Order: sequence, then C-alpha cells, then structure tokens
Amino acid sequence: MKSFNVGIIGFGTVGTGVFKVLQSFPDIKIKKIAVKNVNKKRNIENFDTNLLTDNPYEIVNSPDIDIVIEVAGGVNPTFDILKAALNNKKHIVTANKELLAKKGSELFQIAKQNNVIILYEAAVAGGIPIIMPVKTILCANKINRIAGILNGTTNYILTKMTEKELSYETALKQAQDLGYAETDPTGDVEGFDAAYKLAILSTISFNKKIDINKIYREGITKIKANDIKSAKELGYTIKLIALGQRLENGKIDVRVHPMLVAKKHLLAQVKNATNSIMLSGYPVGDLVFTGAGAGAEPTASSVVGDLLVLVADLETTSNPIPQAVCNHTETAEQIDIGDTFNEYYVSITASNHPGAIGFIGTLFGKNNINISTIMQKGINEDNTAEIIVITERAKEADVQNALKELLKSESIKNIDNLLRVMN
Ligand code: HSE
Repeated sequence: MKSFNVGIIGFGTVGTGVFKVLQSFPDIKIKKIAVKNVNKKRNIENFDTNLLTDNPYEIVNSPDIDIVIEVAGGVNPTFDILKAALNNKKHIVTANKELLAKKGSELFQIAKQNNVIILYEAAVAGGIPIIMPVKTILCANKINRIAGILNGTTNYILTKMTEKELSYETALKQAQDLGYAETDPTGDVEGFDAAYKLAILSTISFNKKIDINKIYREGITKIKANDIKSAKELGYTIKLIALGQRLENGKIDVRVHPMLVAKKHLLAQVKNATNSIMLSGYPVGDLVFTGAGAGAEPTASSVVGDLLVLVADLETTSNPIPQAVCNHTETAEQIDIGDTFNEYYVSITASNHPGAIGFIGTLFGKNNINISTIMQKGINEDNTAEIIVITERAKEADVQNALKELLKSESIKNIDNLLRVMN
C-alpha cells in the first residue's frame, strides 16, 4: 500500500480531533501541523512538538506533502494559503464553510487548472455525510428542495428556550458555558454560519453558483419567550431553518430565518445541538440526514473520511473522484425575499377597543392575506392586547405592506414579531 504525506493547517478542536483519528491509519503520515502558537501546551500523549510550525507555507510549499488538511477557518489569510497549495498541486480537504461560501468559485477554478481537488464534507453539518452523497450517489436526481437545521448552537438555544422556558440571554449563556457558542456569538445567532453552509449545499444541490450576499438571512436574537409560548400553544416549535428551493420557473429561493415548525414535522423533533437536513429530489423522493453538526470527533469523521476516499483513489489514478471537480458554470437567479410565498405568524400589540381585530382582518384581506388562526388571550394591564395571527400562504411583499399599513393606525401599538411557518 502506498503511503501519503499530509500537512494540517489549524490545530484547534477539529485539528486535534483529526490528528487523533489519523493515528489509526498508518499509511497516512502527518508531516507538519501549522499553528498560531507553537509553544502552546497540547493535550495529546507523546506528542512530537517538532511537527509544529507557525508558518503554513512550510506545508503548502513542501514538495514532500501530497494533501493539505485545512481546519483553521476564516477567509484571511487562509484563502491565500490554500491558493498557494492548489498552485503547488496539492489536493485539499477542508472544513472551512466561510471560505467556500465566499471564495469557493475562485478556489475550485484554481483546483481545476491544477488538476487537483478540494473535498469539504466537514464544512456542512460536521459529521453528517451530505456533500459526498449529493455529489455521488444522488447525482441522478433533480434536487428541488433542501430544508435544514444547520447550526447546532442556535438549535441548542431554541431548544432550551422551549423546554426550560429560558430567556434568550440565559440560554445563550448556557450555550457559551458548554462551548457551543463563542464569546462573540454573532456568527451563529445571526445566521451567518447557517447561510455559509446553505450556500455550499444549494450550489451542489441545484448545480448553480449561489451568491452568499443574496441569501436572505435573519438570526434568532429577536425571538422572545412570548413567541416560543404562543408557538407552543398553536402546535409549533421555533427553529432556525436554512431553506433552499428550486422554483418552477427555474429561479432559486435560498434563505435562513427562524420558522414556526409544526410539531409533527421531522425537523421539529431535532433537539439541542443536533443538525438535520431534509432533501427532496426526483427520482429519490424525500431523504433526511440527522446527526452531530459539530464537535471534534464527528467533524474529524468527515475530514478523515474525505481524506481516505481521496487516497484510495490516488492509489490508482492521478484524476481522483471526478465528481469532486466543480463544473458549475451557471449562476443561480436568486429571488428576493419579497417575492417568496410563505405562511406567517404575526404577533401584534393592539390597543383594547372594539373593532381592533376586525381592522387587522380587513387590512390583511385588502392585501390578499387570508387568516387561518387568530388568538387573543385577555387584556394587558396597560389596556393593550397581544393578538397572534397565523396566515395562509401569502406573498412576503404583501405581508410587509400590510404590516406597514397596520402601524399607521392609532390602534396598533407594535408589530412584535413576524415569522414564517413550516407545516
Ligand atoms: N458553530 C457551528 C454550530 C458549528 O453551532 O453548529 C460549526 O459550523
């Protein structure tokens, strides 16, 4: 059996997990590991510190290294480092969702020119195999829809807000204490992380380039305990959903936002930090992939899996895994959120007077919005009332217009929240 030399860039949680898993594969030799701080104590038995370097170019420029594993993350300076690796004809295995979502197109082009490949199973949903299945065994399909929970941190926070009735702030603090959320949680809670993963997954599912800047994105920071409670009473649970749809006219609808998900829906059952992806295609029908979306070991499973598939092919060919070569030439026509159709949950604070609900109903009707459920429970101390409306399928632009008009009225004090609904 041939042996292969690899270099690892990044030696945090995932890098350490990859290093440990690779100890069971003697035909893979780790030649160098690039880190920020070579003097930092590593929690690995009998670790040879001579492997460490603080210069990643020692890896990407080394004639001795066949494959680069990149688990450092971020766009700068990683983009330049990986460009150099590709130009030096190294294959890459990466977990870097942000880099692929923002610069994937350029990197895949450079890879193609150099006759090398980039594998990235770990970039989307950690340990769940989804990239390789879509690119290989599902390639006979026309995929029309993907809907997923792609961020474990936000799913953990929403689960705790639902099950333990915690406030957003307390649930976030717990997620930080457990190491799910970072000190600055923006990337997770504002939906950026899920949007990067959705951009990658949509590109390979719809075979068109997706522009990350055109993905509509809302995070979970505006979800209140009251929304969770009302959703529960109406038979829903709130989840951060990454949604990608190929419309009948060929346009693509891709977005990340919180949704009320009907309790009977499979995605409503996905709790804590677990990820899940539902995919619908022809001829396969509906598929669900569920598992750990992060963590050292699950993510190492995907990184090392990519690596082993790659070396198995390299034993017999210099053109490994032809499906991994990126051939997307067409750019997706991504629709604006205003042109999407959804069912809605609207939480409204109105003043307590006769006809307030009638006014809301009339205005919604004028904007082509059909109400399916309306709920008001008593009157608040300040003589206002919270009115919850669930609508039938309506156009987002019509809903936004109705809400703007509602706010012009003296009797409407506030639109507390607008969320989309998945049944
Ligand atoms: N921070 C991510 C999550 C994992 O919470 O799911 C890495 O993308």
